[in-house]
Amino acid sequence: MNKINGPKIELHLHLEGGAPPSLIHQMSKEKNIDISGIFTKDGHYFFRDFTHFLSVYEAATSVLTSSDDFYRLTKAVLEQSAQNGVIYTETFLSPDFCGGADVIAWHDYLAAIKEAATEAEKEWGITMRGIVTCIRHFGPDKARSVAFCAAETAGDFIRGFGMGGAETVGTQGDYAYSFNLAREAGLRLTTHAGEWGGAESVRQAINDLKVERLGHGIQVIEDHSLVQEVIERGITLEVCPGSNVALSIFPNVKSHPIAELREMGVKVTVSTDDPPFFHTTMRQEYALLAKAFKWKDNDFQELNKNAVDAAFCDDETKVRLLKELDIE
Ligand code: ADE
Ligand code: ZN
Repeated sequence: MNKINGPKIELHLHLEGGAPPSLIHQMSKEKNIDISGIFTKDGHYFFRDFTHFLSVYEAATSVLTSSDDFYRLTKAVLEQSAQNGVIYTETFLSPDFCGGADVIAWHDYLAAIKEAATEAEKEWGITMRGIVTCIRHFGPDKARSVAFCAAETAGDFIRGFGMGGAETVGTQGDYAYSFNLAREAGLRLTTHAGEWGGAESVRQAINDLKVERLGHGIQVIEDHSLVQEVIERGITLEVCPGSNVALSIFPNVKSHPIAELREMGVKVTVSTDDPPFFHTTMRQEYALLAKAFKWKDNDFQELNKNAVDAAFCDDETKVRLLKELDIE
């Protein structure tokens, strides 16, 4: 099987960002919540720019009000991923949207997410692990509550801690307390950096949060000495080309720096971020990269190998994934 249709590893997927618009629309009808303004006439999500995207995203999550809603969401997202060949996904989970980052509520929501993930693994052969994620524009105090939720539930399923949201709000270092708390609980760390912020944001993420992966990270290309540092430290980039194009950071995949970063020696991986928002899938990301950069099966094999190496799961899972990917 060629690699576009074959098994894939995804490291950067927001659970709510994977919500099919039809599911969100259905739930809004069930609960009588009017969010009709977030959809186009033909039922897709509608947003003008990144700031608007974040508010549409939050409006969509407003219909997710119970643990059962998160069960349905998780099943729907994993089914879509599995249909696109994903065999392992690390998914960002936001306690802020699961009962307001209250730890008791979080336990309840997480149990439903895990139940759905267990069923999805049996039904579709996809393995999911969670990265608990704070939201930067909700501020450092909220992030502490989220980090506490993460620390309380760290284990075989919750493997990491991260941060998404508006990268231009505050500094990465404002969240150091939360990242330290998560690290001490044994969680692995990643943060969105170098998506909207420049190389300086990447530098802060490395120095102040001591992350081992970067969500996007692409703007590091502004600073070649920092690129060298990323390479020397073995930091892996969770690159989401379709997301960056949909949000107009680059006009098209051909002008995206993923190939140049890879040629410089940076460990890159490919993910979808929020697939229905950006009209993408993992299969489409691979197809567009193959077309733009003439990447062949061996190139995609390397991306998947990088992803397994940088994954936050245990070694036993990694051995199984490498076998499924046919990597020695
Ligand atoms: N949350 C969901 N998608 C995101 C993105 N692309 N950047 C930052 N936060 C996000
Ligand atoms: Zn993201």
